[in-house]
Amino acid sequence: MSDGIYRSDLAHVHHVGFGSHADRCAPGILALLEPVRARDGLVVELGCGSGLLTRHLLDAGHRVIATDASPAMVDLARTVVPDAEAVEVLVLPDDPILEADAVVSVGHVLSYLPDEAAVDAGLRAAARALRPGGVLALDLCDLEYGRHRAGAPPFVRVEDDWAIVTRYEVPAPARFVRGITTFVRAGDGSWRRDDERHVNVLVDTAAVPAVLADEGVTAVVRAGFDADPLAEGLVAVVGARV
Ligand SMILES: C[S@@+](CC[C@H](N)C(=O)[O-])C[C@H]1O[C@@H](n2cnc3c(N)ncnc32)[C@H](O)[C@@H]1O
Repeated sequence: MSDGIYRSDLAHVHHVGFGSHADRCAPGILALLEPVRARDGLVVELGCGSGLLTRHLLDAGHRVIATDASPAMVDLARTVVPDAEAVEVLVLPDDPILEADAVVSVGHVLSYLPDEAAVDAGLRAAARALRPGGVLALDLCDLEYGRHRAGAPPFVRVEDDWAIVTRYEVPAPARFVRGITTFVRAGDGSWRRDDERHVNVLVDTAAVPAVLADEGVTAVVRAGFDADPLAEGLVAVVGARV
């Protein structure tokens, strides 16, 4: 469930401490989207978070509508990317996606949906939003994502004004769970704790092109958006409506 995740403290910690994934995806996505930029097409971003990829898209000259399920992320993104066409709450898979010349998403946003049927519905919704010639670029967790991380030790990072502790569980081959505790220093010097539980649905991504083909989008599953591979078990889905 997306409801209640990425509340304000984790949204802040994500923004200040975890921008590397969006930075890493940006060059490949910008190259894929160059024809869209050249015709001044509209890009819709799903699960934009605080606007880390959105910033790259806007700086490259794209017109972007940035969306996310988390109201805290949307509030943050409105300050980070005030030059977006719009920054709106959009909860996949059921909220309507505006028709666009490109649909992009990074940070395995669709993997946060409640089950395999919802992931399928999210992929189909993204595909249906594409105008003719439109480009799809998103990342998604494969079953390999859990296999690779089974038994991984907790992740801990401590900074001056925040800290994060993440514990991992693989309760089933197709589920990956993060128990995330954040500590954020408040204005009066005290520390505030918050706990979130994120459940990701892992899918056989080899089946994704057939789902998208059913919606008129030709797609491939690749190791990365460009020659730089994504993290183990995370794949890039790249497609177009011809
Ligand atoms: C790992 S973060 C990635 C954020 C951003 N794309 C980035 O790379 O920095 C995953 C994002 O997916 C969003 N999300 C989770 N479930 C969602 C849903 N059902 N619909 C839309 N966004 C969702 C979260 O709120 C969060 O911002």
